[in-house]
Amino acid sequence: MAIDLLPSILAADFSRLADEVKAAERGGGAALHIDVMDGHFVPNLTFGPALVKAIRKHTTMPFDCHMMVQHPDEFVPAFADAGVDWMSVHYEACPHLHRSLELIRDYGMEPAVVINPATAVDLLVPVLPMVHHVLVMSVNPGFGGQRFIPYTLTKIGQLKELRQNMGLTFRIEVDGGVDRDTVASVVDAGADMLVAGTAVFNNGRAEEEARELLALARKADPAA
Ligand code: DX5
Ligand code: ZN
Repeated sequence: MAIDLLPSILAADFSRLADEVKAAERGGGAALHIDVMDGHFVPNLTFGPALVKAIRKHTTMPFDCHMMVQHPDEFVPAFADAGVDWMSVHYEACPHLHRSLELIRDYGMEPAVVINPATAVDLLVPVLPMVHHVLVMSVNPGFGGQRFIPYTLTKIGQLKELRQNMGLTFRIEVDGGVDRDTVASVVDAGADMLVAGTAVFNNGRAEEEARELLALARKADPAA
C-alpha cells in the first residue's frame, strides 16, 4: 500500500490557515487531518463544522476528520454537510460503535475507528470489515507536539497481520509524534497513512517540511 502523508491542521498558523493548507498540499499532503475536540473526551477544544466548511474551498485534498468528542453521532450530519470525506470515531467514546460507523456511512462519509494507546487492537476485530481505516493513536489524544509512545508500533504490526489474515483492505493510520526521527519506524511497522502536525507546520515552511517528511517515509517503505 502506498504511503500517504496527512498534515494535521492542529499545528498550523490559524491566522493564515488557507495558505498553510495549500502549502501542505503542494508538499505532497494526500488528505487533510482535522482534529475535532470537545473539552470532555479530551481536555482541549478545537474546530467545528463552520471552520471545516470555510477551508473546504481552498483545497482538493480529502478531509479526514478525527472526532475526539464524547457523543460523535450528534455531529455526523453537520460535518458531512461541511464537506468531510472520512470520519473516525474513538472506540473509547462509542458504546454502540457499529451503529456510529453505520451512521457515518449513511451520511456519505467513509467510516473509521480510532484507538488510544492503551486500547488493544483485538477489540476492533468485529468492525474491521466495515472501516476505511483504523487510526492508531501514538500519543494520548488532546494536544499536538507530544512524544511518540513506542509500544504503539507493536499495535500497528498486529493490525497489519489482522488485515492480511482477514483478507481485508482497510488502511492503517498513525497519529501523534510522527516526525523525522520516528517516521521510519512507523512505516516499517506497517502504517500507510501518516498524520503529522508539528513536524509539518511548526516553522512556516509547510511545503518543504511535508515534502521532506514524505520522502523519508517513502524511503523507509519496505514495499517501495
Ligand atoms: C492529537 C491529535 C493529532 C495531532 C498530532 O490529539 O490527534 O492529530 O495533531 O500532532 P503532532 O504531529 O504534533 O504529534
Ligand atoms: Zn488526530
